[in-house]
Amino acid sequence: MKSIHIGIIGFGTVGAGVAETLLNNGDIIAKRTGYHAVLKRIADLDTVTDRGVKLPEGMLVSDAMQIIDDPEIDVVVELIGGTTIAATFIQKALERGKHVVTANKALLATQGKKLFAIAREHHVDIAFEASVGGGIPCLKALREGLAANRIKCILGILNGTCNYILTRMESERTDFEVILKAAQEAGYAEANPSLDVDGFDTAHKAAILASLAYGHWFTASDVLTQGIRNVTLDDIQFAADMGFRIKLLAVIKELNGRVQLQVRPSLVPVTSLLGNVNGVFNAVWIQGDVVGNTMYYGRGAGRQATASAVVADILDAGFHILDHSPARPLGIDDDDAMETVSPDESYSRHYIRLQIADRPGVLAKVSGVLGDCGISISTATQKEAQAAYTQMILITHQARESAVRKAMEILDTLPEVHEKPVVFCIETLE
Ligand code: HSE
Repeated sequence: MKSIHIGIIGFGTVGAGVAETLLNNGDIIAKRTGYHAVLKRIADLDTVTDRGVKLPEGMLVSDAMQIIDDPEIDVVVELIGGTTIAATFIQKALERGKHVVTANKALLATQGKKLFAIAREHHVDIAFEASVGGGIPCLKALREGLAANRIKCILGILNGTCNYILTRMESERTDFEVILKAAQEAGYAEANPSLDVDGFDTAHKAAILASLAYGHWFTASDVLTQGIRNVTLDDIQFAADMGFRIKLLAVIKELNGRVQLQVRPSLVPVTSLLGNVNGVFNAVWIQGDVVGNTMYYGRGAGRQATASAVVADILDAGFHILDHSPARPLGIDDDDAMETVSPDESYSRHYIRLQIADRPGVLAKVSGVLGDCGISISTATQKEAQAAYTQMILITHQARESAVRKAMEILDTLPEVHEKPVVFCIETLE
């Protein structure tokens, strides 16, 4: 039986999971692939900490170049993260004719175009299934299973930390800051949570999904990004009363040849599949013109889930190496320009929360403003006044984003409207 040789750079949580999987599941891997996937070396600056994986003597080294420069190693697995040293290691590995497997979404969402050009030049591939959705094989689904489709829409719950916080805010009726602190203490959220809660991690993943779906390199800077810090317990509660849940969504839609590319907290029906993706779980909902609606669900992070996707990529690379066959084309044409759509041009239903004076004629005034802006109200609910001001919740029919923004600007100037209006889009998954 033939063998491929693998080197892993980065022996953190995911690196340990990949090593463990290769060492423990060698028999089933050999049976399924027809070759031995041999883990030859792991590099990490920390060669001392026990990661709970028993490695053969001498396998763990501190110098990544011992992997990159080893002519016997066919596949280099980059698991150190970040966008500087990781980029250098990947570039060097590609230049030496090695296939690369990575889970590094931040790197691909910023330097993907450059790295893939280097890979093409050296007739090797970069595989990156674990970069979006962790253990969920959603990129394979998009690139292979749905290859016959024009992609109309992708909605993704792609950050487990945010989904965990939003889920606990709803179930425990507790504020964002309290849940975030508890999540940090339990090790679910990072000490610096900004990458997650401000939506940047989701934006990296959205850029990768959009690039694959529409065949043009989008970067994280193309994604209009809003995180979950502004989601209040009130909004979670009011949304729940009206049959919705608030989720941080990657929203990727084709609109007349252009792409709407956003990360934003949005309402989804509690009865929908996405509405029932709770806790740390991730899901990607993809609508194709041929297949219709599909959804992929699972663990978006963690040692074993991510290792599952990384090892699958290693095994694919092994086939191409042993068969001398080219990897599947990425389907991204560098010259194929595609613009993003200003959110002003997009349409959706909206949730609007206003803090209004509880006086005669206020409801008529508010609905007048919306009517003048061409926005049709689907439902209006006013909470029993506890003070001089009360909360009014409006759900609109489909409305153009620019019209809603204009209406909110006008409402914000009314003396009867206290505090800035709160608006979230509603994704009805139709
Ligand atoms: N920090 C991410 C999450 C996982 O919370 O889902 C890595 O992308």
